[in-house]
Amino acid sequence: MAKEVKSVEYGLEKIFEGAQDFLPLLGTDYVEFYVGNAKQAAHYYKTAFGFQSLAYSGLETGVKDKVSYVLQQGKIRLVLTTPLTSSSPLNDHLRKHGDGVKVIALWVEDARSAWEETTKRGAKSFMEPTVEKDSFGEVVRSGIYTYGETVHMFVERKKYDGPFLPGFQKWESDYNPEPLGLKFIDHMVGNVGWGEMNQWVKWYEDVMGFVNFLSFDDKQIHTEYSALMSKVMSNGNGRIKFPINEPAKGKKRSQIEEYIDFYEGPGCQHIAVATDDIIKTVAGLKARGVEFLPPPPQAYYDEIPARLGVHRDMMKEDIKELQKLSILVDADEEGYLLQIFTKPVEDRPTLFFEIIQRMGAKGFGAGNFKALFESIEREQEKRGTL
Ligand code: FE2
Repeated sequence: MAKEVKSVEYGLEKIFEGAQDFLPLLGTDYVEFYVGNAKQAAHYYKTAFGFQSLAYSGLETGVKDKVSYVLQQGKIRLVLTTPLTSSSPLNDHLRKHGDGVKVIALWVEDARSAWEETTKRGAKSFMEPTVEKDSFGEVVRSGIYTYGETVHMFVERKKYDGPFLPGFQKWESDYNPEPLGLKFIDHMVGNVGWGEMNQWVKWYEDVMGFVNFLSFDDKQIHTEYSALMSKVMSNGNGRIKFPINEPAKGKKRSQIEEYIDFYEGPGCQHIAVATDDIIKTVAGLKARGVEFLPPPPQAYYDEIPARLGVHRDMMKEDIKELQKLSILVDADEEGYLLQIFTKPVEDRPTLFFEIIQRMGAKGFGAGNFKALFESIEREQEKRGTL
């Protein structure tokens, strides 16, 4: 764990040194999923996760070939999109990958410059800078491909005050389940293929100006059976963090390999969302049917005070209550964090969510990896994919 903290400090120094950020990012703008049935997916994210109806586009707004529902909670915006015709190219994506994340959109001051700077550095273009307008003003968007068929869109919205994007209308719904305290996206993880992690690390460095501020090798992230490697990439101001995973050799199949097999290529593995009251958030999610990975054994909870070390007195949460909800705890030199992982949220064992509450810690729960992966392996065993 000490190793992890050293990397954090080193990484941040590097981030501060890199004052000439050619791609200033203000935050995550939205995450767009391609799904088989956006109407039903929207109902799931409203009911189970407490997202609120925000905006809509489809037949009623003059869009003939696809429908999109936009949901919001805190600063998190999810867009759920489904094609309406067999000729839509979105079907190719769905047939290959199943439901999953297509777009990780980033909020920028200047979408033209973002596209120019990144394509100049080798990014493959997804969409040239495009101005979209309606009665609320204008938005400039551009996009580039990242790993697999996943895309980063750059969204410039300083001249826009509509509900979401031009062409979307406000979505007024009579069904508004209470939000569950999800605040913002803490990080989004990409899974890439065998031996491809360093190539994507370099891509984020060269094309996006990110720095690698934490690394975990297969000696740190392994169980008796399987392993993976991970490097965390961060942009200059530290607001955007994209860990990149690749599978590593073990006695059995790595969970990353299982993902790649079922997603049929690289893609977004999980979205970590922050809360400032994980006990309340997770209790609410469970009550509404969100499924989480099963709890680690008793010994894991017995070891928590030792794992917390100097932060033991700082922890306000009751360990028994955390155990009851299967919440995991990790600590580094700066504090501790609480986290929990859902099961995959679609039929293919691909995308899942993490709920995280940071109490000073800047890591990603390295101390929990073993317990977490053993838990995932028990699920893989049931699926016959270990
Ligand atoms: Fe995570």
